[in-house]
Amino acid sequence: MPIPRKIIIDTDPGQDDAVAILLALGSPELDILGITAVAGNVPLKLTEKNARKICELAGRPETKVFSGAIRPLIRELVTAEEVHGKTGLNGPELPEPKMKLQEQHAVDYLVETLMREEAGSITLCPLGPLTNIALAMIREPKIAPRIKEIVLMGGGFFEGGNVTPSAEFNIYVDPHAADVVFRSGVPIVMMPLDVTHKALTTTKRIDAFRKLGTKVGIATAQMLEFFERYDEGKYGTDGGPLHDPCVIAYLLKPDLFQGRHCNVTVETASELTMGMTVVDWWGVTKREKNATVMRDIDHDGFFALLVERLGRL
Ligand code: RIB
Ligand code: CA
Repeated sequence: MPIPRKIIIDTDPGQDDAVAILLALGSPELDILGITAVAGNVPLKLTEKNARKICELAGRPETKVFSGAIRPLIRELVTAEEVHGKTGLNGPELPEPKMKLQEQHAVDYLVETLMREEAGSITLCPLGPLTNIALAMIREPKIAPRIKEIVLMGGGFFEGGNVTPSAEFNIYVDPHAADVVFRSGVPIVMMPLDVTHKALTTTKRIDAFRKLGTKVGIATAQMLEFFERYDEGKYGTDGGPLHDPCVIAYLLKPDLFQGRHCNVTVETASELTMGMTVVDWWGVTKREKNATVMRDIDHDGFFALLVERLGRL
């Protein structure tokens, strides 16, 4: 087997973040150096605890979890308890974590690790607002050219937004951080709502997790049954979009996805379109192409991968 790919997951769990973390922990192709928590779906105190709960659920209490930014760079924190529940992980009853939170701040951990490890060897996988990533880049600009790739869930274009008509939650919460990241020059793969809205947690797919009969499988079914209800009500679909695991699935099976290299620019001025990711899909501007924007997914293949890998935990 080739040398496992070194990744750092930056996350605001969140049930879909949790499934992404489980997918990564169940995949030997990936070497998770650390998990950095950020405020987003719920406040930081909960996202860092939820990240530890998920590592223990996966039977991986040795995973290093760090706590990061408590709020966005400039704007007030906006959370999403209406989607994820008060704890951020509503659905299963998961025990309070016994594993310790790392002492080091997530931003210091990101800078130190990227400066120590071989340049170009680490992939960052942001699943929430980009505050930690932007802070690390501002704290030490030398890290940007040392990052192999950033594969992130965020944004939307043809699909519009999910928090405002034009903005997706992760980008909307911290548009200034997103602007720093999209201007950083680091190779970016973006999983926007255009692709994640094609990966729906249908009843049949949730049953496949439950039929694993394992702690992880049952807890995943319970998480998704809670998580999907908000979007089912909003979109009138059977199932809700499973956003964050698209990031990890791309690392494992990139051919599940199709997209295009184009320019992505983040709105940070107008309140009307704050946090909008303006994607030059048709190349009508001279703006430099800075991201591979995914638009299509083999959703059956995606869920088959998820069930197979979570079945290993
Ligand atoms: O808009 C969806 C994104 O916002 C996902 O990452 C979800 O976990 C929330 O963070
Ligand atoms: Ca998330």
